[in-house]
Amino acid sequence: MSDDSRPSPPAGPSTARTAAVIPAAGRGVRLGPGAPKALRALGGTPMLIHAVRAMAASRAVSLVVVVAPPDGAAEVKTLLDAHALPERTDFLVVPGGRSRQESVKLGLDALPPGHDIVLVHDAARPLVPVDTVDAVIEAVRDGAPAVVPALPLADTVKQVEPAGTPGEPEPVVATPERSLLRAVQTPQGFDRATLVRAHETVTGEVTDDAGMVEQLGLTVVAVPGHEEAFKVTRPLDLVLAEAVLARRRLNDGF
Ligand code: C5P
Repeated sequence: MSDDSRPSPPAGPSTARTAAVIPAAGRGVRLGPGAPKALRALGGTPMLIHAVRAMAASRAVSLVVVVAPPDGAAEVKTLLDAHALPERTDFLVVPGGRSRQESVKLGLDALPPGHDIVLVHDAARPLVPVDTVDAVIEAVRDGAPAVVPALPLADTVKQVEPAGTPGEPEPVVATPERSLLRAVQTPQGFDRATLVRAHETVTGEVTDDAGMVEQLGLTVVAVPGHEEAFKVTRPLDLVLAEAVLARRRLNDGF
């Protein structure tokens, strides 16, 4: 057997390069009327730019793929060109799809060879600290096929029988033990081949990529998340995000 016909060995911890895919194609209707969510300003800078910088802040990340609204790829490309981003990082923009899952798949399809670890990060989580990004990458490098940053819950969670009409009372059917539950954030980190296989084989509605890897029967591990990695979904989240940015500016001495 010639060397060429053998599968290449998995990249070791020191050689594995990391790419980040940022799905940013959602409209963000829960935030109210206006521009697509990822293009809304936070501290005067579009949320998407914050998210891109958060990924590029990790020295391990050498490529960021932004998945833009299907009709907005040119606009997003112009936006990236107009903002200062680290020199060591490459950027690609691809048009997204109708669901988050489809958008992530389109981002994965655009990845060139040579990146063995993939992060998937919501544009809607613009303020994730670099230490959280690095902790996720580290856990994948240590051998986990899929890694999620996660936090314990403050609220007790109830499972209900959903009412047909919004606002109608809903019967509670179960109360899962809170200490066993975690709220999961992004970036989620993956061995690239595992994530590609998950997107090729798992069908049906999923809300996160790690859930697809679970459906392959593989173990997903959770590492500590961060309260600043919250998702900007509703108008009040914008107020909190502005407050976090103001606190950072104070701490940085600006
Ligand atoms: O809607 P949700 O808040 O769960 O969206 C999470 C992320 O997925 C957002 O960053 C959003 O822009 C992205 N998304 C996407 N393509 C879609 C729908 C959502 O890239 N069709």
